Amino acid sequence: MSQLFSEFTLRGLTLRNRTVVSPMCQFASQMGLLDDWHLVHLGRFAVGGFGLVYVEATAVTPEGRITYADSGLWNDAHIPPLRRIVDFLHAHGAAAAIQLAHAGRKATTPHPWRKTDTADAKARAGFEDWQPVAPSALPHAEGHKVPHELSIGEIETLVQRFVEAAERALAAGFDIVEIHGAHGYLIDQFLSPLANKRTDKYGGSRENRMRFMLEVADGIRRVWPDEKPLFARLSVQDWHPDGWQIEDSVALAAELKSRGVDLIDCSSGGFAEGQVKGGALYQVPFAQAVRSGAAIPTMAVGLIDDANAADAVIANGQADLVAFGRPALEDPNWPVHAKRALEGTEGLYDLYAGPVGHAIRAMDKALGR
Ligand SMILES: Cc1cc2nc3c(=O)[nH]c(=O)nc-3n(C[C@H](O)[C@H](O)[C@H](O)COP(=O)(O)O)c2cc1C
Repeated sequence: MSQLFSEFTLRGLTLRNRTVVSPMCQFASQMGLLDDWHLVHLGRFAVGGFGLVYVEATAVTPEGRITYADSGLWNDAHIPPLRRIVDFLHAHGAAAAIQLAHAGRKATTPHPWRKTDTADAKARAGFEDWQPVAPSALPHAEGHKVPHELSIGEIETLVQRFVEAAERALAAGFDIVEIHGAHGYLIDQFLSPLANKRTDKYGGSRENRMRFMLEVADGIRRVWPDEKPLFARLSVQDWHPDGWQIEDSVALAAELKSRGVDLIDCSSGGFAEGQVKGGALYQVPFAQAVRSGAAIPTMAVGLIDDANAADAVIANGQADLVAFGRPALEDPNWPVHAKRALEGTEGLYDLYAGPVGHAIRAMDKALGR
């Protein structure tokens, strides 16, 4: 049997295999609410055989959304649509994760494809914008708003917002919460010396820059049940000589582990996009460095699309899980096809096996037959 399709257990959760659908913003929510789009989009990955499916970056406050059309979990009205998605994922054998996020100074950016250039277009699109917040009053880049510098009291309130969102994720039935500490968003803005110029206990030394992330992890672990895993996504390095480096991530991962974080989801970048040097599997060495440096399970992600390569990542001990973003969008049956390539089982064109049979069985079950 392949390693990619072996089970994986963390705390009280066993995943049916090591394939994961990476969190992917859909920019399709209104006031943070998920709807049928998200049920179909995410549900299809469970039917296609993934072991774990993520709900996209989900804002813990309205101001923490990247765009006004992001997913949110800042009030109880957000729980029922999420519960519906979680129940569907569970009914089809996948575990459910949600990524809790705050975009900080990268919030309130334009919607990627909707036109909002006139008052009419704005009204049609349900457009909103607002004042972003950050550790320091430095804009992300030209064209971005200058953020409000958070006070100590405001930082404490934001830690509490992450904790409250985790409590709602629990009410929605999620198996895993992931803290989004990557991609130059709020937590990463605290971590990186490129964005954090504070001189109080949240800035300066690495220990101080890690404080916000560690307070969020501590707070969530207090309300997140012992039998459920807690993950953190990090940009393992900033791709900038003056930024956050791999050894910083190893140190942070060790601290997170001691606070009850179970796995580090290893991404990179978010401050210096032009500098990223990516080819196939380019972030796998980051997952390997954190896994061996901090003795904590990791997830590899980024330009992994080949079944044998994904299997080798697990077999070689470079990571414990492999996440797929664009390959999953392109082929929601990616695991079925990969399993066939690796193990020669499940004929694609056999009516009662492979994805066709799987879909028929799923439909039968949904209809109570
Ligand atoms: C449409 C889209 C939306 C994304 N949204 C998120 C997100 O919500 N949170 C996150 O951490 N990464 C997000 N990402 C990054 C992916 O999770 C993943 O790390 C990245 O696409 C690299 O993996 P891939 O090469 O398999 O696509 C997004 C990527 C895409 C393509």
